[in-house]
Amino acid sequence: MFSPRFSLQSDALNRADADVWAVSDRAHALANRGEDVIFLCVGDPNFDTPEPILDFARARLGVGRTHYSPAAGEPMLRRAIADIESKVSPHPCSPDDVVVFPGGTNAIFAVLSCLLNPGEEIVIPEPMYIGYVPICDALRLKVKKVSCPAETHFAFDVEAVKAAIGADTRAVMINTPVNPTGAMATPEQLRELAAYCRARNVWLVCDEMYSMITFARRHTSLRTAAEHLDNIVVIDGLSKSHAMSGWRLGWAVAHGPLVERLIGFAGATIFGCPQFIQEAAAFALEFDSYFVKQMRDAYERRRDLIVERIGKIPGLSCYSPDAGMFVMVDVSNIAESGQAFAEALLDAERVSVLPGAPFGPSAVNHVRLTLAADEGELSRALDRIERFVTTGNKRSA
Ligand SMILES: Cc1ncc(COP(=O)(O)O)c(C=O)c1O
Repeated sequence: MFSPRFSLQSDALNRADADVWAVSDRAHALANRGEDVIFLCVGDPNFDTPEPILDFARARLGVGRTHYSPAAGEPMLRRAIADIESKVSPHPCSPDDVVVFPGGTNAIFAVLSCLLNPGEEIVIPEPMYIGYVPICDALRLKVKKVSCPAETHFAFDVEAVKAAIGADTRAVMINTPVNPTGAMATPEQLRELAAYCRARNVWLVCDEMYSMITFARRHTSLRTAAEHLDNIVVIDGLSKSHAMSGWRLGWAVAHGPLVERLIGFAGATIFGCPQFIQEAAAFALEFDSYFVKQMRDAYERRRDLIVERIGKIPGLSCYSPDAGMFVMVDVSNIAESGQAFAEALLDAERVSVLPGAPFGPSAVNHVRLTLAADEGELSRALDRIERFVTTGNKRSA
């Protein structure tokens, strides 16, 4: 009889994130039974991809742009990305520095695959994006977490990251603005960390997926802030900023020798992203100022609405994030954990929020609310959250 045996990598991926989405899975099951559930758990923009991008993609499909594409990406898109990276940076970026991937997740997987061997150490501040966990597990990396405590609003702490870098550290991975906290590293912090990592012969990878969704101040790329570029990698994409999550389009910007490795990796595992999607992405990047601003303004209004309403609910608190698509709500006065709060809220009021624990121990007393819902939907959800907290349902949390 055949007895199936699988790789350690697929074992790791198979184990991943069952707990993370448990509340949300239950919420979907309730919705499928016809219950009126409000979902505030996902980071998928609730805007349609802007019409001009759709038109451009249709036109490119119409002229037969449906064939294989170079592993590194279409020249037109690599040029558009390089132009953006060059715009405010002291370091000119060449299309040759850019490699295109089907989404940010895949770019992260490719970069970490090229930089680290199984068993090697990567330093990552937490709370961190949930998606890093299965990637690091699959690559069997040793993750050393650096706490960014809730008391500081999860602020990026460059000294703590530096202190965590030891003799065995091979890479540091940061995210700015951060999912879930909205925290942003300053240009000075990025510059300092890049120089420190370089002096220690350590790679510094920066996930900048929310680079265009900032409110208080504009994002500065690691590539702009760093003095030298040979130990740094920047990852970005269109999923969030351009409401193009389903198009699967991300990229990495790196230095010569790593670019070669990334192209080799992309060639072997992807063999080129779809031509018409890459060309629509190039169009999106060149003609985006109007709709990116519109979406950013909408996210900012939603953030303000949540922060104002949460501030008036006794026992709950939150700060106003500078960037990103989420608000972290502290539930420690109401519930024994974010998990308990999220479960009881779903049971009592049919609102689905994401518990903080999967993002890291610093977020265990928080829940994450998304900005990817319109103001009417958010108001309805906040009415329910207020009722949940003020009517004593909270006792079951
Ligand atoms: C911080 C961060 N990085 C990367 C990704 C993955 O992006 P993509 O959907 O393009 O794979 C996400 C998606 O939520 C994210 O929040």
